[in-house]
Amino acid sequence: MSGVRVLLTGAAGFIGSHIRRELSAAGHEVISLDLMVSAAHGPAAATPEGVARVDVRDGAALDAVLSGVDVVCHQAAVVGAGVSAQDAPAYASHNDFGTAVLLAAMERAGCRRLVLASSMVVYGEGRYRGERDAVEVGVRRTADLDAGMFEHRCPGTGEILTWESVPEDAPLRPRSLYAASKLAQENYAAAWASATGSSVTALRYHNVYGDDMPRDTPYSGVAAIFRSALEAGRPPQVYEDGRQARDFVHVTDIAAANLAAVEQPLPGFVPLNISSGRPITIGEVAATLAAARGGPAPVVTGRYRPGDVRHIVAEPERARRALGFAAQVDPIEGLTRFAFAPLRDSVGTFAPTF
Ligand SMILES: NC(=O)c1ccc[n+]([C@@H]2O[C@H](COP(=O)([O-])OP(=O)(O)OC[C@H]3O[C@@H](n4cnc5c(N)ncnc54)[C@H](O)[C@@H]3O)[C@@H](O)[C@H]2O)c1
Repeated sequence: MSGVRVLLTGAAGFIGSHIRRELSAAGHEVISLDLMVSAAHGPAAATPEGVARVDVRDGAALDAVLSGVDVVCHQAAVVGAGVSAQDAPAYASHNDFGTAVLLAAMERAGCRRLVLASSMVVYGEGRYRGERDAVEVGVRRTADLDAGMFEHRCPGTGEILTWESVPEDAPLRPRSLYAASKLAQENYAAAWASATGSSVTALRYHNVYGDDMPRDTPYSGVAAIFRSALEAGRPPQVYEDGRQARDFVHVTDIAAANLAAVEQPLPGFVPLNISSGRPITIGEVAATLAAARGGPAPVVTGRYRPGDVRHIVAEPERARRALGFAAQVDPIEGLTRFAFAPLRDSVGTFAPTF
């Protein structure tokens, strides 16, 4: 596709920086903005060259940059698992109010296409099946968890359930404040698409890792937490029995999926899982990183956090059909490289403000 004009929000972030390079390398004109929130970058971070310091909640500032933009690639958000209920206003403000202001500005500018950074967290728990049927699960019983029985059981029969991969039309049941804010972003974007006849491709990233991922913070992903422990000579501490299944997708594949979504307009609101398509357990993630760094070996602690999701694995087919996207980086190879990848320093203040 010949070059389009793209407005990229969150362009100084972990994922946004990779997308910026990918879009530019493909010949697109990229207008980059980022607020440089202190939770992510620290209180005195300089804005990277070529990135304008703009708040997506500032409609007038958006009006000034949206003229002639063909598609918005919206990565800006306050991220993390929602460590404290005190973070809720920051999630609502940056993620949801910010998206609402952006959508209104896009309508004023006549910009009809949005690529939205969404997340697997919108699903909450994964999908489970008993011997005969699919089973809806809730929160696991404390007595089971205390006894080291971490798998979901059928609420009626007590039968141990097995996991299945999650398609995009699975029920959406966010389990954290951050997840609630990511789902609200999707809901605003979907309603905007139908109200204005516009197009939204919502990319539900699974566990993203790769170069320049933020170091170990209370809001970091588990790959960075394990990696930081190993760097400090400590064994990665693995919760539960380490058999929790996930999908770890490399940030270069996330950038490629965004490029594909920018270049391939899809009609209406289309959510897509963006994943490697090769499930891995949390224990394997820790073991792969530890082996690559020459130890120490992970410790499987049997400890648990009551709200944690047991298994969440993507069905990757729809993204392949809709965008021709298939991840290139195998998780074992990617995590082996990630063991020595450069990381973003933990200068952030971590707790988000609004
Ligand atoms: N990292 C993951 O594993 C993961 C997984 C699923 C989805 N996501 C989503 O991907 C996107 C990028 O996440 P990331 O991991 O790169 O996080 P990040 O914190 O590195 O980047 C987010 C960027 O958004 C900016 N930002 C926040 N509020 C803003 C505002 N009001 N105006 C302008 N800029 C603002 C921040 O300064 C930061 O640079 C987010 O939407 C996140 O929810 C990330």
